[in-house]
Amino acid sequence: MKSIKRREFLALTGLTGAALVGRAAFSARPDIRMEVNTMAYTAKDYAKLIGMPGFSETLLKNHFTLYQGYVTNTNKVLDILAQMLKDGKTGLPEYAELKRRLGWEFNGMRLHERYFENLGGKAGPEMNGKLAKKLVEEFGSFESWEKDFRATGAMRGIGWVVLYQDAETGRLINFWINEHDVSHPAGCNPILIMDVFEHAYMIDYGLKRADYIEAFFKNIDWTAAAARLKS
Ligand SMILES: [Fe+2]
Repeated sequence: MKSIKRREFLALTGLTGAALVGRAAFSARPDIRMEVNTMAYTAKDYAKLIGMPGFSETLLKNHFTLYQGYVTNTNKVLDILAQMLKDGKTGLPEYAELKRRLGWEFNGMRLHERYFENLGGKAGPEMNGKLAKKLVEEFGSFESWEKDFRATGAMRGIGWVVLYQDAETGRLINFWINEHDVSHPAGCNPILIMDVFEHAYMIDYGLKRADYIEAFFKNIDWTAAAARLKS
């Protein structure tokens, strides 16, 4: 019988960086016994963003609550799917629908975390830094990248704007993401994320999305964004 300790399992699944809390475990196969990962994600605290210019406390608190819902639902969907697997119910339509739902909940959790984490900055971009240099390389000038990012954010519809880095080539590309669970480029790493769902700005700006984008740009934590870059 082969057993894998929790730490080894987390290393194998790449979940070591997440905030997790342990719960019960079970074995999936009688011939290969391992500790199955059933650990819960916990919502992170972004209260330090309260007071950020251009973002009211009401808007931010509503947004934090919405994010916490994604964390709760990610755990819930993972729990139910694990139980259904254990119970041999993988052929049911409920299993398929929850599998589809998982991308929505998980990405809703992770994208909000990346979004909040790339806010709260007090200084502009370091123009001699690696991120600005790579943006200039890719777009010809920093202004050209910014114009494209803002224009993507101004598109009609709700979604996300994500500056992604292609892990294979290192290229930087601004993507429009319609929903959490679709349109994400495979093998790319999110560097800078802007939420343009209406809940991200309507409380403060109504339909004036351009004003929200302006406020977003004033509060980007460029250090956090640059730290995500792979050389
Ligand atoms: Fe949001």
